[in-house]
Amino acid sequence: MGDGDCSIGLVGLGTMGRNLVLNMADHGFAVAVYNRTGEKTREFMEQEVGGRKIHPGYTLAEFVGHLQGPRAIIILVSAGPPVDAVIDELLPFLSPGDLIIDGGNSFFRDTDRRGRTLAAKGLLYLGLGVSGGEAGARHGPSLMPGGPPAAYERVRAILEAAAAKVQGELCVAYLGGGAAGHFVKMVHNGIEYAVMELLAEAYDLLRRGLGLSPGEIAGIYEEWNRGELASYLVEIASPVLRRVDEKTGQPLIDLILDQARQKGTGKWTSQEAMDLQVPTPGIDTAVMMRDLSGYKAEREAAARVLQGPPPVFPGDRQAFIRQLGRSLYAAMVLAFAQGLALLQRASQVYDYRLDLATVARIWRGGCIIRAALLEDIRAAYQARPDLEHLLLDPRLGREVMARLPNLRAVTAAAAAAGIPAPGLMVSLAYYDALRSARLPANLIQAQRDYFGAHTYERTDIAGTFHTHWD
Ligand code: 6PG
Repeated sequence: MGDGDCSIGLVGLGTMGRNLVLNMADHGFAVAVYNRTGEKTREFMEQEVGGRKIHPGYTLAEFVGHLQGPRAIIILVSAGPPVDAVIDELLPFLSPGDLIIDGGNSFFRDTDRRGRTLAAKGLLYLGLGVSGGEAGARHGPSLMPGGPPAAYERVRAILEAAAAKVQGELCVAYLGGGAAGHFVKMVHNGIEYAVMELLAEAYDLLRRGLGLSPGEIAGIYEEWNRGELASYLVEIASPVLRRVDEKTGQPLIDLILDQARQKGTGKWTSQEAMDLQVPTPGIDTAVMMRDLSGYKAEREAAARVLQGPPPVFPGDRQAFIRQLGRSLYAAMVLAFAQGLALLQRASQVYDYRLDLATVARIWRGGCIIRAALLEDIRAAYQARPDLEHLLLDPRLGREVMARLPNLRAVTAAAAAAGIPAPGLMVSLAYYDALRSARLPANLIQAQRDYFGAHTYERTDIAGTFHTHWD
C-alpha cells in the first residue's frame, strides 16, 4: 500500500508539517511524507501516525513514487533559501503538470519569482499562507492560497477539508493570482504584530499604572474576551498571565525577558506599506517596539538617569479598566483597517483582485488574528466591496467614534504617567489625521519649495507653482 496512492505529499516534518499531515490524513487523504533527515520521518512514523494512511519516503525518489500523478506536494520548511533548496532537489523527480505548494511564511516576491520559474518548466505553483500555529495546523488552520486558479482547484478538496470552519463556513478560499496568498498572510502577520503590541501596552498600563498582579490582569483579559474584544490573542493572554513558574513559584510572565523577537513578516508588511504609500502606523509601531525592546542594556542604563513622572494612575481604577477595554477595541479596528487598506492597494497594484469580505471571512477562524470583530468587518465589505476605508463603514465608524473619548483619556493618562503606549497613541493620531480635512502638509510643501524649488499646488487655482521666497 502506498505506491502511487497518495493524493498529496508533504516535505518538512517540523511542528507545522507534522500537524498538517495528521490533519489531512484524519480527513481521509493518503499523504506521502519526506524530511531532509530521515530520523525525523522515522520518529514521526513510529510515534504519531497510528493507523493513518501516511507513507514515508526516505529518499525523494521513494517519496515522489508514493504520489498519484499529476503530483501535488506541499513544502513546509523555513522561509527563504530552504524553500529554493527543496524545490531544486524536487525538480528532477517532477513532470510537467505537477504542483508545488509553499505553505511557509515566504516573502511574496520570492513566491512570485518561484511561480514564474516553475511555470516556465510547465509546473504549477501555489503560495499558501497557513495560520494558526501548531493547534491550527492539527485541527483546522486558516488557509490563504494564491496562484493559478487551476492549481487551487487541484488541491481544493484537501485544503477545504483541512481548513478551520466557522458556523459551517470555510476558512479557506482562493484569493487571487501570483503571490496573493502570501501577501495576505504577510498582512495577517502585520496585523498580528499590531494587536499584540496593543495587548502588551494594556498589560503594562494595568501592571505598572494600576499595580495589578498578573493574576488580576488575567481576570480582566478573561472578562474582555467575553465581550466585544473576543479574539484568540485576548483569550490566550489569560493562561499566559496565570502560569506559575514551577522552579520559583512566581508568575512566569514576570520572569520572561522583555525582548521580543521577530522572524520578519511584520517588518515586511511595514516595508511594503511604505513602498505602496499606505499608512500602517499601528504595524510600524509594533515593529519599532519589538526593535526597541531589544535594546535591553541601553534601556537599563537610561532607566538609571532619565527621569519621568511616577508611573501611577490616580482616579477611579474600575473606570480606567473599562476605558482601556473600549480603547483596545477602537485601536484593534484601526489596526485591521490599516492592514485592509494595504491589501486594497496591493490588490490594485499587483492585480490580485482580492475580495476583502472573503479575506475577513477566512480570518474568522483558525488563524492567530481571529476575532469577533471580523464578523463586522466582513459585513462591511459585503455591503460595499469597494469601501474606500473600513472606518467609512457606517457601523464600524460609529463604534470606533463612540470609543474615541476613551482612547483619548487612556492615552492622556499614559502620557501623564510616563508609561509608553505608542500603539494606542498612534491609533488615536491615525484616526485624527484621517478625519482632518486639512492637514499641515501645506507647510511641508511650502518649505520644500523654499529650500528645493520642489513646487506646490494651490487650493484655489489649478496648476503647479513656485515662489521666489527670498
Ligand atoms: C501564524 C503566525 C505564524 C508565526 C509567526 C510569528 O499565523 O500562525 O503568524 O506565522 O507564529 O511567524 O512571527 P514572529 O516570529 O515574527 O513573531
